[in-house]
Amino acid sequence: MKTIDDIEVTNQRVLLRADLNAPMKQDTSGVMQITDDGRLKASVTTINNLRDKKAKIIILAHLGRPKGERKPELSLKPIAKRLGELLNTPIQFIENLNDANTLKTVNALQPGEVAMVENIRFEKDETSKDNVERIRLAQILASLADVFVIDGFGVVHREQASVTDVARLLPKAAGRLVQAEQKAFAKVLNNPERPYVVVLGGSKVSDKLGVINNLINKVDKLLIGGGMAFTFLKAQGFEVGDSLLEVDRIDEVKQLMITAKEKNVEIVLPVDVVICAQLDGSALVYIVDAQQIPVGQKGLDIGPKTGEIFANKIKDAKTVVWNGPMGVFEVNAFAAGTKTIAQALADSNAYSVVGGGDSAAAIRLLGLDESKFDHISTGGGASLELLEGKVLPGLAVLEEE
Ligand code: 3PG
Repeated sequence: MKTIDDIEVTNQRVLLRADLNAPMKQDTSGVMQITDDGRLKASVTTINNLRDKKAKIIILAHLGRPKGERKPELSLKPIAKRLGELLNTPIQFIENLNDANTLKTVNALQPGEVAMVENIRFEKDETSKDNVERIRLAQILASLADVFVIDGFGVVHREQASVTDVARLLPKAAGRLVQAEQKAFAKVLNNPERPYVVVLGGSKVSDKLGVINNLINKVDKLLIGGGMAFTFLKAQGFEVGDSLLEVDRIDEVKQLMITAKEKNVEIVLPVDVVICAQLDGSALVYIVDAQQIPVGQKGLDIGPKTGEIFANKIKDAKTVVWNGPMGVFEVNAFAAGTKTIAQALADSNAYSVVGGGDSAAAIRLLGLDESKFDHISTGGGASLELLEGKVLPGLAVLEEE
């Protein structure tokens, strides 16, 4: 796989596919505000490296899933503004890819200057299932540049025009973020130091079954929290009240627990849970034994005993991967479990990788020191697919001649 050190970028127009898909919220005056700029910060190293190498940079990125529609609330303008602040340089904004001035703007870029194209998913061909349509857009993109750099780790699991198709039309290389993400995941997938502990959470067990099926061949302990834990508890024959439950997955989970036993993998489930009748914590919140959740109550976080058990397992580990919050951490009353796990990882000497999406957001939202973790992934779906053992198209294309 080539990196930006292996291709000529000086004085070249570099098309950089980044993942700047940051969570946004409308403020009281109706303006879209970024609520977590982690992905923007993670993109800075590559852009600065390219600027130092005197490249002319054209950033491609997406926001949300507009499916070919120009939705003002999904404009990349606020993202360009914030990224410009982080880079300490203005970013020229290209409103419309198909405008006659676009090529002129790109060709007028000076070495070290940066432009950004409006949300690439405003183009319906970007996410088309039809190769011809995607290649049609990829050709327009390729006509704007001399080389292509992929640094949007969060989209490398997507077969999309600005990810895979354009990569086939230009000399290509991986950016620093993609390099760092690949290195971290290769370590935990191929060469983990033991004991190896994986902590999984998040709401749906169905989203994590692929990961468990792959990791069960590699790990020593699997700690399960979050909404997904209730399908495990139910599979063991316990009542879970009104907690999240995927009834159609119970048999699969039962089978997984048998496989884990055969492979000597310890599956650790919550022993206590924080419960409430309301998801927003507006009813009475209390802690019960995980095996005695009353009817009408939802389990919304792991309890303190579970937090302690999990933290101790993390303390003894040499490698820890964490993906998915332990509870509804956005609500204060249900944030303690996620905080305990994040803190245990931060305090441990183990090599620690945090899967992207919610767990990465939780670390930032809870104000934890990001430097205490060896790697915080920027990929949500992409990191899960890597942990599932899948080949990701946006990375595979980099290996093509
Ligand atoms: C993400 O948020 O995980 C990435 O930006 C990919 O977004 P997508 O799931 O809409 O393709």
